[in-house]
Amino acid sequence: MKTSAIHGYPENYELFNLTEFDNWAGKGVLTAEEDYLFGKFIYALDKNASILDLGTGSGRFLLELAKRDFTRLHGIDLAERLLLAARRRTEPFPFIKFYRMSAAELKFDSGTFDAVLGLQQVISFIEDDRDRAAAFHECSRVLKPHGLFAGSFLMYGGRWINPAVSLLTYPAKLCNKKIRNRLSYQYLPWLKLGGKTNWSFAGRRQPYLYWFRRAEVRSVLEEAGIDIIEMKTVKNIAGSRNLLASAGMLYVAGRKK
Ligand SMILES: C[S@@+](CC[C@H](N)C(=O)[O-])C[C@H]1O[C@@H](n2cnc3c(N)ncnc32)[C@H](O)[C@@H]1O
Repeated sequence: MKTSAIHGYPENYELFNLTEFDNWAGKGVLTAEEDYLFGKFIYALDKNASILDLGTGSGRFLLELAKRDFTRLHGIDLAERLLLAARRRTEPFPFIKFYRMSAAELKFDSGTFDAVLGLQQVISFIEDDRDRAAAFHECSRVLKPHGLFAGSFLMYGGRWINPAVSLLTYPAKLCNKKIRNRLSYQYLPWLKLGGKTNWSFAGRRQPYLYWFRRAEVRSVLEEAGIDIIEMKTVKNIAGSRNLLASAGMLYVAGRKK
């Protein structure tokens, strides 16, 4: 596998050019949770609203919005191969603009967008803690006052095996000087790569995903200047009463102060 010169292992976004490419290049319909969030908050926006999609991948969300007559659509991502797929896929809608850019460093003026999407846990893919904090501030900065943020986050409490994975991966984290700042139990490796079990998940040289605590998402967004309107897990959205079922990811809608 191609490795990043900086860490000796690929960065999360690079995996989307590699093992994860096939899964995301042709991804189609919205999931039930995405459909819920779009139905309640996004489709209701004025058709003239300017919308930014962070970690747009192959442009799945922007394509859906273009089909519903939204025209001021912008997507950013770092995975070049997915951006190419996005441009190809959205050819019938040439007004959709794609840029290679990090969510942690947005090259847009402050107050540009009516809505920012940070779905499919894009901020959880940012390994560096300062970059992750910057991404929250960037979302808020590029939003107009009262602009809408809709995002989802990996939630530590949402997957019951997480404490065991934290424990099993701790020795590898301790052994690797380069990833000492990933010692927190909330940094977890990918358990599947390219749809197959990642048997090396407890090994040393691999990227980590950041699994947020629910209260942390609330406080980080509020600190960035975004008030939470709604915060629900996959289980809440599905209305499941199964006590044994995992809560799943956290879906959030918020408004810039
Ligand atoms: C799970 S995929 C979701 C793709 C798309 N939003 C979708 O739902 O089909 C996450 C995307 O985030 C991108 N990504 C990861 N880190 C990023 C960063 N720092 N800035 C921008 N995009 C990033 C990845 O390259 C990948 O395309």
